[in-house]
Amino acid sequence: MEPKAVLDTCLNCHERDVSKANIRRSPHSLADVVCTNCHSIHKSPAAQFLLAKRQTELCYGYHADVRAQFSMPFKHRVNEGFMACTDCHNPHGTFAPTWGMADGQSMVARAEGNQEPCLKCHADKRGPFAYEHPPVRVEGCGVCHMPHGSTNAKLLARPVVFTLCLRCHNGADSFGTRNNGIPKLSNTHNMLDPRYQRCTLCHVRIHGSNSNGYFFR
Ligand code: HEC
Ligand code: HEC
Ligand code: HEC
Ligand code: HEC
Ligand code: HEC
Ligand code: HEC
Ligand code: HEC
Repeated sequence: MEPKAVLDTCLNCHERDVSKANIRRSPHSLADVVCTNCHSIHKSPAAQFLLAKRQTELCYGYHADVRAQFSMPFKHRVNEGFMACTDCHNPHGTFAPTWGMADGQSMVARAEGNQEPCLKCHADKRGPFAYEHPPVRVEGCGVCHMPHGSTNAKLLARPVVFTLCLRCHNGADSFGTRNNGIPKLSNTHNMLDPRYQRCTLCHVRIHGSNSNGYFFR
């Protein structure tokens, strides 16, 4: 059968199961990757969901580059079987995300309450906080973390913390909740002093705080 015909046939009965997934517009469907590429409907070797292969191997069959990311020194333990691609992704498709300016499709599944899937497990980062650090909610976790794996501790997007912060705290105008620019570093912050380069040594509650607007402990 043609991919389109497979899709239509299976959806005859399974429309309801996968209806929340916007499947006809998903990047998989648009690339002619349909039900039977992933499911083996007569005889499946997998324990669940009639998958054509064990999930991780199934996905790596198409996404070899992602295998390398989960082999980095700091990573989510997908290869170890501790979690699965579908803890964060819906392979059937998704609607536009409600975080990160709604850009970046990547079929990242939403957790309850339309939140990033990260918050299912890292619930302490959810807030609401009395003092929010706006990028956590506005741009989303991905602005500072690599979701799969990274060569940097804590899956950080940059090797040194202060270079991450200075992407935004660099004196640009007209941003932030006060619309007067993202706060610049005050004069006390001497960037040549190694002590000040370790921002999160002092600004410990970097994801938000209920007691301190500077995110101190
Ligand atoms: C005539 C209706 C019908 C058609 C057509 C159909 N299915 Fe199913 N499918 C079912 C039923 C009924 C079940 C069992 C559901 C259950 O156990 O809850 C099922 C189970 C499944 C499951 C396992 C779900 C689970 O929770 O473990 C998968 C995967 C699946 N079907 C995929 C497909 C695919 C892929 C196609 C197209 C090739 C397809 N189905 C076509 C009716 C259908
Ligand atoms: C890109 C791979 C892929 C494609 C394409 C795909 N599936 Fe799935 N499907 C999966 C994976 C992986 C799971 C297991 C999800 C999990 O572990 O939570 C799954 C789970 C399911 C389930 C059971 C759980 C649920 O989400 O309801 C059904 C039913 C199902 N698929 C039907 C379909 C049908 C019908 C199609 C085509 C219209 C389809 N799938 C296309 C990968 C795929
Ligand atoms: C911890 C959550 C998480 C897990 C587990 C996860 N992903 Fe992702 N993945 C993401 C997020 C978040 C993005 C979006 C990144 C972006 O838009 O910059 C993404 C993006 C992707 C992309 C698009 C990358 C690109 O360059 O556009 C692919 C492909 C992908 N993931 C495949 C996988 C596969 C395959 C697995 C399992 C082996 C997996 N992911 C497991 C969170 C996860
Ligand atoms: C299914 C649960 C789960 C989901 C979903 C999840 N994580 Fe994790 N994450 C963990 C666990 C468990 C660890 C602990 C590290 C390990 O597995 O060894 C971890 C580790 C981390 C770490 C490193 C912590 C450290 O101390 O080194 C960061 C950062 C992180 N996750 C961010 C994210 C982001 C961002 C997302 C969403 C894209 C996400 N996580 C989604 C379970 C999850
Ligand atoms: C503004 C940048 C930024 C954003 C946005 C961000 N983080 Fe972090 N995160 C950090 C930094 C920096 C660290 C390392 C802190 C340290 O070294 O003490 C960290 C550490 C972590 C850790 C490990 C240490 C801990 O506190 O548990 C987890 C887990 C984590 N982040 C998850 C998330 C999740 C989930 C999101 C999205 C809801 C997110 N982060 C958004 C900058 C960020
Ligand atoms: C993606 C942009 C972005 C990144 C990256 C970022 N911040 Fe922020 N930060 C903001 C915005 C926006 C505000 C709030 C401005 C407002 O409320 O007007 C803020 C507020 C703060 C505040 C509170 C200051 C105040 O006067 O309210 C501190 C402290 C802070 N950030 C530290 C950091 C540190 C440390 C890092 C690196 C780990 C970091 N930020 C990374 C955008 C960012
Ligand atoms: C040794 C502790 C310490 C370190 C390390 C540190 N800060 Fe601060 N930071 C403070 C203190 C104390 C304040 C509040 C008083 C002040 O403005 O000096 C502050 C204030 C801020 C503010 C708010 C400025 C304003 O005018 O509202 C921002 C933004 C900020 N820090 C970002 C950073 C960034 C980014 C780094 C890393 C490059 C960093 N801090 C490293 C102690 C520290």
